[in-house]
Amino acid sequence: MKKRVLSGIRATGRLHLGNYLGAVKGMLELQDNSEYETLYMVADVHTITTPFNVEELRKNRREVIIDYLAAGLDPEKSVIFQQSEVNEHLELAFYFSSVTTIARMQHLPTYKDKIKQYPTHNTMALLNYPILMAADILVYKAGLVPVGIDQEPHLEVAREIARKMNQLYGTDFPEPKRFATKGEYIPSLRGEGKMSKSVEGSFINLTDDLETIRKKIRSIPTATAVGGEMNPGVKSLFAFASLYISSEVEKFKKDFEAGSLQFVTLKDAISEAIYKDLQPLQRQRKKIESDKNYVDKVIKEGAEKARKIASKTVKEVREKMGLL
Ligand code: TYM
Repeated sequence: MKKRVLSGIRATGRLHLGNYLGAVKGMLELQDNSEYETLYMVADVHTITTPFNVEELRKNRREVIIDYLAAGLDPEKSVIFQQSEVNEHLELAFYFSSVTTIARMQHLPTYKDKIKQYPTHNTMALLNYPILMAADILVYKAGLVPVGIDQEPHLEVAREIARKMNQLYGTDFPEPKRFATKGEYIPSLRGEGKMSKSVEGSFINLTDDLETIRKKIRSIPTATAVGGEMNPGVKSLFAFASLYISSEVEKFKKDFEAGSLQFVTLKDAISEAIYKDLQPLQRQRKKIESDKNYVDKVIKEGAEKARKIASKTVKEVREKMGLL
């Protein structure tokens, strides 16, 4: 039997470079490996765990699917779907909540960050975020999850839930592992923290043109003085350089150490490489955007395929828990 893979991205807007390098590149790699059966969703239900706008959510859940298709996710090879259309995720999440303590959820760094960001939105949905994510993965008994390093605490929760369910009820859930890419942690353009949709000025959108990318990369705060200890902005810049112009990194590092580095030269070389990587995706996106019927068909068929697998798991769990 093929090993299953599941991943998802929230519907908070168009994808950014962090999503692409940390998650989508891994999703593509596994899709194209015949050892795996791959399922990729837009995590639209997770989007309602923080404040959201109804019309934007309706639009964004579709935009993520279009970004997936533009990036090369292929409905002939992967099941591509919207989380909210497979009720089994929500049902299984509730069963999983019976083996998870409130204290464990409150201690997660992701939860703490979010309540700091939205102090008046400390909701049950937010507390339940990792449980729903565990259900997303385990409802397909997926053992491998292509996501960025920031999602590791959530995968730890999924493993704990799998173990507890197996011990208590004799289910056969795997303990899911993260599939890491070279871009598992993409830094913010602002010189501290990670690239994130919720931090203005921190990200590059997959739809940005060369001029915009150049402007954004040039905005990375690099000191005017070169040589010596690298400041966080310079470190970020070299992280992008390793990913995008790896063969030239050593040369640029030497220039930095010698005090002769022209930051703008390095920045523009990175910008051009990023744009070159994104250009095919942008062209593809234009085609897909205009084909409404095709996108509708992908979404409909994806949900049907996903439901088939998910309903089997939920039935099994209900039987083992005495609910059927
Ligand atoms: P989200 O929408 O926050 O992030 C989507 C994916 O992008 C990755 N990512 C990054 N990777 C590297 N560097 C960055 N700066 C960066 N920023 C974001 C994230 O690690 C993630 O892979 N909880 C998930 C959504 C989800 C999910 C799931 C994922 C819901 N259910 C089941 C896998 C399996 C999330 O945070 O998405």
